Parts: sequence; C-alpha cells; structure tokens
Amino acid sequence: MGATIIVGGFFGDEGKGKIVAHVAFADKPAIIARGGIGPNAGHTIEVSGRKFGVRMIPSGFVYPDARLLIGAGVLVDPRVLLSEAGTLKVTERVGVDYRCAIIETKHIETDKQDPYLSQTIGSTGTGCGPAAADRAKRITAQAREVTELSPFLTDAAAEVNKALESAKNVILEGSQGFGISLFYGTFPYVTSKDTTASQIAADIGVGPTRITDTIVVFKTFPTRVGAGPFDTQMSEDEAKKLDIEEFGTVTGRQRRIGWWDPAMAKYSAMVNGATQVAITGLDKLDPSVKGANQYDELSTKIKTFLREAETAVGVPFTLLSTGPELTEIVDLREERLERA
Ligand code: GTP
Ligand code: IMP
Ligand code: MG
Repeated sequence: MGATIIVGGFFGDEGKGKIVAHVAFADKPAIIARGGIGPNAGHTIEVSGRKFGVRMIPSGFVYPDARLLIGAGVLVDPRVLLSEAGTLKVTERVGVDYRCAIIETKHIETDKQDPYLSQTIGSTGTGCGPAAADRAKRITAQAREVTELSPFLTDAAAEVNKALESAKNVILEGSQGFGISLFYGTFPYVTSKDTTASQIAADIGVGPTRITDTIVVFKTFPTRVGAGPFDTQMSEDEAKKLDIEEFGTVTGRQRRIGWWDPAMAKYSAMVNGATQVAITGLDKLDPSVKGANQYDELSTKIKTFLREAETAVGVPFTLLSTGPELTEIVDLREERLERA
C-alpha cells in the first residue's frame, strides 16, 4: 500500500504507458495521477488487440476502477483533454487540478514556428515549452479560469494525500525520460521541466515521505526523438536489420534507436532513487520470448542480459515486458520482495 511512482529512465518512450496499465490491474489503485510536462507525451497501451494513444489522460485509464487525476504541475491543453476524455469515455473519472497551467493556441504556434524550438531542439510542437516559459513568467491562465474544464476541477494533491492516509494504493505516473530532463538531461536538447521521480511527486503534490516505491522504466534498445546527443545510437540500417524501428505516438517522427546503455541506466536509477526497474522490449532482444509470463519461459540470452543489467544498475529488475500487449509481462515483484 502507498504511492508508487513510475518514470522513464532513458529518453522517453520506454513504455511507461504499458507498465502503468499493468501495475494498475495488478495493484488496484484508488487513484492514478499524472505528473510530467504536458501533452508532449504520448503513451501507447495495447489491450486485447486494441491500441490506445493518450497524451493527457493517465495511461492507467484502461483499469476501470481508478479515479484519474492530473497534477497541478502539468500543462493542460483543454482541447486535447476534452477530446481524449470523450473518446475514451472516462469523463466521470477524470479530475484536473485547478492550478494546472493552460496551453493556448499561441503557445502551439510559437512552438511550431520558432526555429530554435522546432528545428534546433526538435520540440514536439505541442506548445509545452512556450507555455512552461509563460508559467515561469506567471502569465499563463490556470485551469480554474477555463469554463470547459469546470466539471473536472479538483484539488488533486488533497485527493491523493487523503487516499494515502486511508491506506489506499495510488500510482503516480511520469512522462518523458531522464535524458530529456531540463536539469539532468543533455541540455539544451531537453524538454521544459525536470522529469525525475521527485519532480513527478511534486507535480502531483505528494511529499517524499509518502513514496513507497519508485519504478524506473528502461527499454532494451533505448530510443530518442528530436535533436541531441545519444551515445549508444546505432545506424538506421542496423535498426532495420534488427527489425526494431519505432515511430513517435505524438509526432509520427522516426525514433533514433540505440544499444542498451548500462552507465546511463545506473546514473538514472540513482538520481530517480529507483527501488525497482521495469524493462520493456525483451522480445526485441530475443523474439522467442514474446508473450512470456513466467521467468522460466525466458531464454538463456534474456536471463544473461537481465543478470548483467541488474548487476550494472544495482536495482532489482521486477517487471519484465515481453511485448506491447498488456498481458505480455513477467511480474516478479512479490517473489523478489519475499526473498528480500
Ligand atoms: P512517453 O511518456 O511519451 O515517454 O511514452 P511511453 O513511455 O509511454 O512510451 P510510448 O508508448 O510512447 O512508446 C513505447 C512503445 O513501445 C509503444 O509503441 C509500446 O506499445 C511499445 N512497447 C511497450 N512495451 C513493449 C515491449 O515489451 N515490447 C515491444 N516490442 N514493444 C513494447
Ligand atoms: P518539447 O518537450 O516538445 O519541448 O520537446 C523537447 C524535446 O523533448 C524534443 O527532443 C522532443 O522530442 C522531446 N520529447 C518531449 N516529450 C517527449 C516524449 O514524451 N517522448 C520522447 N521525447 C519527448
Ligand atoms: Mg511516448
């Protein structure tokens, strides 16, 4: 029981959406609250062959019994929020903190037109950077001033802390990844805010003493979209040969693909204060393990990779994703906790 934070350990798109959805079904949280920057995120969740993409609604929405909150730190684009809430039929469960800052059309226009943001940095064009700048200047609107958002307004921090006091489970969902943190990433090729676990907790209004677990999500082949250094990047040809190409959920841009980076994983786990690691894309490393649900079903190649990676990072790898579908995962959390 308590608050579990789930964050990205590489450059975003590690598969947090899939991991959040799995943890939600397994842990049955009363609330799933989203931190992070804003609608620049794109989480993909595949359930029973259906593929969902969300940018504002917490990815845990596929678990039907949780309240879905957006923390005060998040930038809200009301159009994206209302459209997703309607399409996903979750309007009754969604709450938006009344203090969220609002992305306006002018922010999106600046993000797309400013050559520094759109070309040098390679931003997502969703208005997040310019809105974050205006928020720092204290000139953005807050959610409480937007008529269309009035049915959703709440004090997300109060709701989450109340649930925690009643010993309920809560998932705090991050977005983006460590390498594009404004503070710890490859500055200036980063997003407009920190992306680490402490920031996600602050975005939602949960103090560090309330966090039970911090799960950092990595992928076997890290990816990066937009400009900026990527130490372990492979060539497009290599990615094609391995059949591991990826395209962005929000922008459709081709993701740059790299080799597993144990040094980055270790550093990222340290700054995030990881208590557990989730790893996605084991099926990309060895297609024979696709869909596996048991540790014993994993191949020697995968077991060796996991052993070496775990030693390098120094944190238990407890969630092992073997495909994009919700059910394609090995969950070792209970087993590992019992042994510890
Ligand atoms: P951001 O918040 O934007 O950083 O995104 P995210 O971390 O939620 O990840 P996103 O959904 O953008 O990208 C991850 C991609 O990997 C999606 O297409 C998922 O469906 C897919 N995926 C997740 N887990 C696995 C896995 O174990 N194997 C494979 N092959 N694909 C996976
Ligand atoms: P911005 O956040 O739109 O300003 O983009 C700044 C940088 O962060 C660009 O390189 C984007 O590609 C990257 N970025 C922002 N959000 C995500 C995400 O959710 N996944 C991956 N990269 C992201
Ligand atoms: Mg994404």
